[in-house]
Amino acid sequence: MPLFSTFATCVFVTSAMLVSALHKSGVKEDPYFEARKLMESYNVISANISSRGIRANWEYESNMNEKTKRHMLKVKIETSAISHKLWKSLRKIDWKSIKDPTLRRQYMLATVTGAAALSANKSLEYGAVVRSMKETYSKATVCDFKNRTDCHYHIMPDIEHIFAKSRFVPELKYYWKSWRDVSGRPSRGNFLKYIELKKEIAKANGIPDPVAYWNYFFEDPDFEKKNVELWEEIKPLYEQLHAYVRFKLHEYYGPHVLHRDGPIPAHLLDEYESATKHRTIIQKILHLLTFQQRTDFF
Ligand SMILES: *[C@@H]1O[C@H](CO)[C@@H](O)[C@H](O)[C@H]1NC(C)=O
Ligand SMILES: *[C@@H]1O[C@H](CO)[C@@H](O)[C@H](O)[C@H]1NC(C)=O
Ligand SMILES: *[C@@H]1O[C@H](CO)[C@@H](O)[C@H](O)[C@H]1NC(C)=O
Ligand SMILES: *[C@@H]1O[C@H](CO)[C@@H](O)[C@H](O)[C@H]1NC(C)=O
Repeated sequence: MPLFSTFATCVFVTSAMLVSALHKSGVKEDPYFEARKLMESYNVISANISSRGIRANWEYESNMNEKTKRHMLKVKIETSAISHKLWKSLRKIDWKSIKDPTLRRQYMLATVTGAAALSANKSLEYGAVVRSMKETYSKATVCDFKNRTDCHYHIMPDIEHIFAKSRFVPELKYYWKSWRDVSGRPSRGNFLKYIELKKEIAKANGIPDPVAYWNYFFEDPDFEKKNVELWEEIKPLYEQLHAYVRFKLHEYYGPHVLHRDGPIPAHLLDEYESATKHRTIIQKILHLLTFQQRTDFF
C-alpha cells in the first residue's frame, strides 16, 4: 500500500475511534460531532492530495516527457484512490439534514468529487482522454504560409502572434483552418469519449447531467434562468457593438471579405479561438477606440 494511502487510512481509523469513544462516554452536546470530525479529516487529507496532484501535473504540463508523465500518473492513481475512499465515507453522512450552514455547505461541495466517483479504471480512462486532447493541442504544428515545407509553428507563440499582427486575409484564413485541422480534427474520437465519460461522472455523483454538474457549484437553483435573463438584458448592447466592429471591418477589408449585415468571419478577429468571440469583439472595440487615429490599423 502506498505510504500516503496508509496515512489517510490511519487518519480515518483514528477519527472513527475517537468518535465512538466519545459517543460511549456520553459527549453528545454537538449533534454533528461525527460529521464535523469527518470533515476535518477530509480537509487535511484532501489539501495534501490536491497539493501533490497539482504539483505533479504542473511538472508534467510545463515539461512534457516520459519521466514527468510516469510520475504524474503514479500520483494520479494514488490520489484518485484516496479521493474515492474519502468521498464514499462522506456520502454516508446524511448531510442534507445538517442545520449548521457552514458544515452543510462543506458537505454539499465535498460530496461531489468529479472523476474520482467513477471506478478506478474509468477514472484513469477519463484522465487519459483529457491528457491526450491536451497533448494534441500543445504538440500540433502547422506549416508556414509562404513556405509549406517549414512546419514548426505552434499555437503559442507563433500562430497567436500572427493573428495579433497580420491583416492579410488569405494568410489569416490559411492559419485559422490549418490550425483546426491539426488540433481539432485528431481529437474528435477523444472528444466524443469525453462527453460520454462526463455524463457518467455526473451520474456517479448523483447529478442528472454534465450541465447540471457544472451549475451545481454556483449554488443557485435558478442559475441557468438568471443567465438567460441577463443575456437578454445585455443582448441589445452586444448587437450594437457587434455591428460597429463589423462596420469598421467592412470599411477596412471591403465587401469581398465580409458582408455588411452578415456574420463576422472568425479569422478577422485577431484571435485564433472563436470560442472567446464575445470577448474578442470587446477587445476589438477597445483597439478601435484607442487607435482610431491610426490609419495603418484600419
Ligand atoms: C502529504 O502527506 C505526506 C504524509 O504525511 C507528507 O509526507 C507530505 O509532505 C504531504 N504533502 C503535502 C503537499 O502536504
Ligand atoms: C524536465 O524533466 C526532466 C526529467 O524529470 C528533468 O531532468 C529536467 O530537469 C526537467 N526540466 C525542467 C526545466 O524542469
Ligand atoms: C481495469 O483495466 C485493466 C486493464 O485494462 C483490466 O485488466 C482490469 O480487468 C480492469 N478492471 C476492472 C475492475 O474493470
Ligand atoms: C523553407 O523551409 C525549409 C525548412 O525550414 C528551408 O530549408 C528552406 O530553405 C525554406 N525555403 C525558403 C525559400 O525560404
